[in-house]
Amino acid sequence: MAKSRTRYVCQSCGHESARWVGRCPGCEAWNTLVEEIVATGPGARAAQGRPGRSVRLADVESGSEPRFPTGIEEFDRVLGGGIVPGSVVLVAGDPGIGKSTLMTEVAALLAPQGVLYVCGEESPAQVRLRADRLEVDGSDVRLLAETDVDTILASAEELDPAVAVIDSIQTLYRPDLPSAPGSVAQVRECAALLMRRAKSSGMATFVVGHVTKDGTIAGPRVLEHMVDTVVHLEGDRHHAYRVLRAVKNRFGSTNEIGVFEMQSSGLKPVANPSEIFLSERNTGASGSAVICAVEGTRPVLAEIQALVTPTSYPSPQRTADGFDTRRLQLLLAVLEKREGIRLAAQDVFVNVAGGLRLTEPAVDLGIAMAVVSSLRDRALPADTVVVGEVGLSGEVRSVPQLATRLKEAAKLGFRSAVVPAYGLHAGIAPQSLELVPVSRLREAIDRLF
Ligand code: TYD
Ligand code: MG
Repeated sequence: MAKSRTRYVCQSCGHESARWVGRCPGCEAWNTLVEEIVATGPGARAAQGRPGRSVRLADVESGSEPRFPTGIEEFDRVLGGGIVPGSVVLVAGDPGIGKSTLMTEVAALLAPQGVLYVCGEESPAQVRLRADRLEVDGSDVRLLAETDVDTILASAEELDPAVAVIDSIQTLYRPDLPSAPGSVAQVRECAALLMRRAKSSGMATFVVGHVTKDGTIAGPRVLEHMVDTVVHLEGDRHHAYRVLRAVKNRFGSTNEIGVFEMQSSGLKPVANPSEIFLSERNTGASGSAVICAVEGTRPVLAEIQALVTPTSYPSPQRTADGFDTRRLQLLLAVLEKREGIRLAAQDVFVNVAGGLRLTEPAVDLGIAMAVVSSLRDRALPADTVVVGEVGLSGEVRSVPQLATRLKEAAKLGFRSAVVPAYGLHAGIAPQSLELVPVSRLREAIDRLF
């Protein structure tokens, strides 16, 4: 008989340890080590099962996954064109951001196909109250106020819905596991059971998951690896806009976004986000630049606001909202060192208006221009959009999908665009847009101020 030994495996990073420790030496997370029994000795690794049948790639039937749309275009696009039967989608976001609202709307729209909504956090009466606020009819959604995963699976078996919503995974538990609901072991186990059910029955499953303060999904990282798709619902609590972003998608692209506005009657899709993000712009004010980011296939124009003021601290402040602070520091260093723009005695605050979060380097030049504009107290031309990545030697680098960005700018009535000189070709910009090609930061500053 094969012998066995016990090992402890971190559910977050996979680190293995011979004994249990409270804090994982690998990723320094607390309480993530879980006991596992492994067979050792002769025979432990010997094949015990029968060989499976492999197939030639060419013999596998191709054909796209059948999908069914929810009818909310912003939502369907993020999923890659609708819901794939049998897929498991993790919907993550901060508490109170609107996950339950979004899932209630989706459930109501899909009710004719059969939807089981498991409300582990709320009573059915609370869900009813929310559904009444929304302008969709969800009368046929089946509600189940249950947190025992076995009961949930049995109900799913009995009702056989096309779609199940689990709100939220952190409330589920399996009675035979000793740990509390929300713990790493419980979340992992419950998710695995739900996955199995989804794959065997074709029931598409949406799993709501909360996010911790540092932005990671509470519970084990393995959850992200297990599910087919991970979408984040992001936004600023103080703004009405919510961005749904795919961060992993086995059935589609991962950089698609959907934009919604939180209203008193639920989340409303925003078909033209650029207009929204520019709507409150104060043209003619210094420290403002309009950039064009591309999120997935979709160009989004947004306003960058910068405020540069003499500091009263020994080390000046640098704050970025909606943009990486370190990237801002880098841009300031380039402005200072390469272009001689004195910022060492200035506080610099940068904000992306409307609560949008930008991650693309293509917005660098716009940020640099907003900073220079505020420092000099001179406004940029109101009808100009700025696009370009800034390199460490002060060069302006080309950006992907420039034509898409320029088309969007022209559509919104912009008349000129500062763009990287490299890689331009005839016909890249619409007729109405005048291009200002620049290859260095200095050129952009000279042309704009
Ligand atoms: P909720 O979906 O419950 O958030 P989550 O499930 O992510 O924790 O929504 C939270 C907020 O949304 C709540 O503060 C109220 C607000 N809200 C609206 O503004 N309009 C609505 O129609 C609904 C249902 C909620
Ligand atoms: Mg909720």
